[in-house]
Amino acid sequence: MTQPGKKVCFMTGATGRLGSEIALSVAGQGYTIFFTWHASEPKAEELLEKIRWVSPESEMVHCSTSSAKEIQAAFAAFLKRFDRLDLLIASASNFYATPLPDVSEEEWDSLVDTNLKGTFFTMQEASRIMQKQPFTSRIITMADISADLVWKNFAPYTVAKAGVVHLTKVFAKTFAPNILVNAIAPGTVTLNPGKDMDSEEEMVARIPLRRLGDPLDIVKTVLFLLESDYITGQVITVDGGRMLS
Ligand SMILES: NC(=O)c1ccc[n+]([C@@H]2O[C@H](COP(=O)([O-])OP(=O)(O)OC[C@H]3O[C@@H](n4cnc5c(N)ncnc54)[C@H](OP(=O)(O)O)[C@@H]3O)[C@@H](O)[C@H]2O)c1
Repeated sequence: MTQPGKKVCFMTGATGRLGSEIALSVAGQGYTIFFTWHASEPKAEELLEKIRWVSPESEMVHCSTSSAKEIQAAFAAFLKRFDRLDLLIASASNFYATPLPDVSEEEWDSLVDTNLKGTFFTMQEASRIMQKQPFTSRIITMADISADLVWKNFAPYTVAKAGVVHLTKVFAKTFAPNILVNAIAPGTVTLNPGKDMDSEEEMVARIPLRRLGDPLDIVKTVLFLLESDYITGQVITVDGGRMLS
């Protein structure tokens, strides 16, 4: 069991480009991190080593968040090791273009299961633990500004992220006042070589603040939500003003 009083965070998608920066920063705030990895074992091992420099009791477990059974198994492993859960960060995601009208069932299932179903079952397992605790805990989901835009080549992904926004509100209302549940909706922070339909110049031209986001912009928002006691059911958009254009 963890040191008395030490906060514990369960995180999916911690090996991601934003995910790893978030995990390291949350560890730096004094949290023990229990994170899942899926395909990136070497990255996961490297991340765990770095996290343990500041948070030595941290752990990782393999889990595909597109499977409810694997999520339940990951939480069972978590509960063998830890007796409290202060924070869930649900960040696991996959992303690629799926132009209409040629979206396959496999592509739909992969994008919706990873981005939406996985987020739902992760939130459900976390809230089961959190609702019984005599202190406030937090859930942060990772949405995307595309949940509110019409991106014609990304229908399954954007529908899944719109679902994440709705789940965030449902969980916030259901589990208030014990659990504060909020989403972060980044604009474009990292580029996806071979997957983005527009060039970097085209993307930057649409952003009033004239730059892509930096992972630190997202990290700062996570840290803000960790300190906030009176915000729940909200989506914090971090997009350099992209939604204004
Ligand atoms: N980066 C951006 O510019 C941006 C913009 C808008 C929204 N977002 C959202 O912000 C969040 C973090 O983004 P990111 O850049 O860190 O993402 P990323 O670099 O694409 O990383 C994706 C993460 O999800 C995990 N993952 C993928 N499929 C999985 C599965 N089936 N089961 C379990 N884990 C799985 C990956 O784990 P493995 O590597 O171990 O497979 C990895 O940790 C995501 O939800 C993303 O949609 C990001």
